[in-house]
Amino acid sequence: MNLSHESLSPDEIQRAISTGRLGKKIHYFGTIPSTNLKAQALAKQGAADGEIVIAEEQTHGKGRMGRGWVSPPYLNLYLSVILRPKISPTLAPQFTLMSAVAIADTVQSILSFPPEIKWPNDILVDRKKIAGVLTESSCEPDRILFVIIGIGINLNFSREMMPESIQEKATSVLILTQRQVDRNAFTCRLIQSLDQCYGELENGGFASIMQRWDSYFRLRGKNVTVEMPDRRVSGRVEGIDTDGALILMGEGGGRERIVAGDVIPIDY
Ligand code: BTN
Repeated sequence: MNLSHESLSPDEIQRAISTGRLGKKIHYFGTIPSTNLKAQALAKQGAADGEIVIAEEQTHGKGRMGRGWVSPPYLNLYLSVILRPKISPTLAPQFTLMSAVAIADTVQSILSFPPEIKWPNDILVDRKKIAGVLTESSCEPDRILFVIIGIGINLNFSREMMPESIQEKATSVLILTQRQVDRNAFTCRLIQSLDQCYGELENGGFASIMQRWDSYFRLRGKNVTVEMPDRRVSGRVEGIDTDGALILMGEGGGRERIVAGDVIPIDY
């Protein structure tokens, strides 16, 4: 397939969106180490709620659990949002769940394949990863200073362009549809969806977001193994709690509450 490498246009995106808070300012870069790192630096310098950082390429894209995120130029979307929610730090994980719902809604709107959220925040289609979220926050004991929601979505990433290490486990909109995505239009939809979910979370509370997160979650009742940096546990998935932790009924009958790890389905 002959792919044209069109740049993202922050002006075009800004003209097309109509949001309450997100994207009033978009910081656009060609190549930077990581949009999350840039967003953190901007937040420390006083960037406002809803400011967005987008890059065409990341040289040190960050994934969860110290991993990297493959970020070649002009193909995909690498975007970080700075949020300054006026809520207790204990509720910060709700923003992570909210962003997974916004991504799944956006992906669903352009595919005929339903996406799935794999706890905590991977978006899969056809059991392969199409998007990931890395949320990083800076808090004082009783207030959040800022939350950075970093989103990577594989858009026009062909299998041949992917390093071999991810070819079997990753997918992209291009792979699924055989068509090139208009990255500007996709970015508008995503920002719009994030803005709407952010508003819903604030006005309607966590229940509405949680219900939608659950509709994308397919592992309830399934047996899984969860690998954590220091141990692994197996059990049946009961669901998640309001902090976004995974609740497992362990093989020994005890309930396990897991805050970070990799889920490996056993009987999927
Ligand atoms: C994961 O699934 O491990 C999370 C991946 C998050 C990648 C995105 S790309 C934009 C933002 N900047 C980063 O350095 N990481 C996130």
